[in-house]
Amino acid sequence: MITVTPEEVKELISLAIEARRRAYAPYSNYQVGAALRTRGGRIFTGVNVENAAYPTTMCAERVAIYTAVAQGEREFDAIAVVTSNGGSPCGGCRQVMAEFGLETVVLIADADGKLLEQTTVNGLLPGAFTPADLHR
Ligand code: THU
Repeated sequence: MITVTPEEVKELISLAIEARRRAYAPYSNYQVGAALRTRGGRIFTGVNVENAAYPTTMCAERVAIYTAVAQGEREFDAIAVVTSNGGSPCGGCRQVMAEFGLETVVLIADADGKLLEQTTVNGLLPGAFTPADLHR
């Protein structure tokens, strides 16, 4: 089990709130910020980036995860996701989280910094298809 301290929870949520200000969401007007903590304590943030060709939009969680992976990180302790109303990560983001570990802690908070749910990737996506499924 991964333990995340209350201080780490606070820090991740506040970094996700700060990142969220940079969300590019002119079409939905639903800004999302994410902050991802690696096993080694590095933090990567992400925002949703929308596009006039709507389906090419990318979610905040995936921006954070892909940025971290591009920097050589593949092990994550926790990810905080902040929206106006505490919206939950979408199915695509859950699948991408599952690629890198089912035990990663997921913190869902609103724009006031209120932690509405603390769960894990496994809690959000039970029975996930993972890399192990390719080698059974
Ligand atoms: N969005 C995210 O960034 N993360 C999610 O997990 C759910 C949805 C974004 C995509 C789009 O820019 C906006 O929220 C409305 O769907």
